[in-house]
Amino acid sequence: MADEKTLGRLPKWPRKALNNSVIAAEQAYRRRSGLPLLSDEDIEALKGGVQMAWEKDGGGVATSTPMATAAPPATAGGIVPTGPAAASGGFSPEVEKWLAAGKKWSKSAIAAEQARRKRNNLAPLTDAEVTALLGEPAASPAAAPTTAPTAAAAAATARPAPAPKPALPSVPQIARGGTATRYVGTPAVGTSKAAPAGGIAGVGPDDTPVDQRRRRLVWSAVVAFLGTWLIAFFRFFLPRTLFEPNSVFKIGYPSDYALGVDTKFQQKYRIWVDRTPDRLFVIYARCTHLGCTPDWKPSENKFKCPCHGSGYDSEGINFEGPAPRPMDRAHLEIAADGQIQVDVSKLYSWPKGQPTHFDDDGAFLKV
Ligand code: FES
Repeated sequence: MADEKTLGRLPKWPRKALNNSVIAAEQAYRRRSGLPLLSDEDIEALKGGVQMAWEKDGGGVATSTPMATAAPPATAGGIVPTGPAAASGGFSPEVEKWLAAGKKWSKSAIAAEQARRKRNNLAPLTDAEVTALLGEPAASPAAAPTTAPTAAAAAATARPAPAPKPALPSVPQIARGGTATRYVGTPAVGTSKAAPAGGIAGVGPDDTPVDQRRRRLVWSAVVAFLGTWLIAFFRFFLPRTLFEPNSVFKIGYPSDYALGVDTKFQQKYRIWVDRTPDRLFVIYARCTHLGCTPDWKPSENKFKCPCHGSGYDSEGINFEGPAPRPMDRAHLEIAADGQIQVDVSKLYSWPKGQPTHFDDDGAFLKV
């Protein structure tokens, strides 16, 4: 019986009663290591603080596990002061819960947990807790500080006080098996699958206000950049329409106009209404040189182009400057309501050296 059974990481007899979490951790360890599991009778005996049945046969000397080979001789109280079993009374409730769940932690998860505790001003995991969470064999007596063999059992089962650590505030320190292992640098964020399982949202150094401001600035720039491109993207689908006034419009009745040039529709329709003793016509206000809009000079009774100085008389006939011909005239007709209807899409011109179209039907109204 003793050949099949092994103490694993359990302390030798005599020992104190073990709680559920320590027993669960031992079962998890045995499952991982391929060792025979503790039977219900064994568990009851461990909880009751009595000897397991197979131990009474002289067994219980663990020879097949690293823990057993490395374990120091039992103390007077029979308690090994390091390792999960020894620290059963010293594990925090949170660690005991994790051990009971039987999940093996990775080194990065341990580092993340240490970082979280540091941020939250919590006590760091002790060496024994780290060892238990990693699921590794307990520390050897040479590497881990042990309680003096003559110490009382109660003192041995007490949670070991964390050893003073070197002042390395930015370097998380993980101690396993009694040997300190320092992680240089920041644990990689998001690379641990165990960290979320341990309820850890993230790892790394704490954010300073400067870091937060920088992050806000970067995100603002990214959002502004993407927003601009989004607007430009949707603008691309909108029609590029040039809104121009209607080319056909009414300008009132013939009796509204006196002799001479009327400029009241220059801004709106780019025309002048010109009335002579026998005609009313509309001049399209565009210089025939290069297309500028001439100005009406009533004191000089002429149109003057501001661009290159072309001059036109009161009927739009060029007489000075580079303009090659008179200004065009728009089509006119009397609408059904008696008003003058102008159509600037149909123009009458007098090309240089050619017959004039100013006398065509529609180029003027008789008054
Ligand atoms: S555009 Fe009128 S003179 Fe040149």
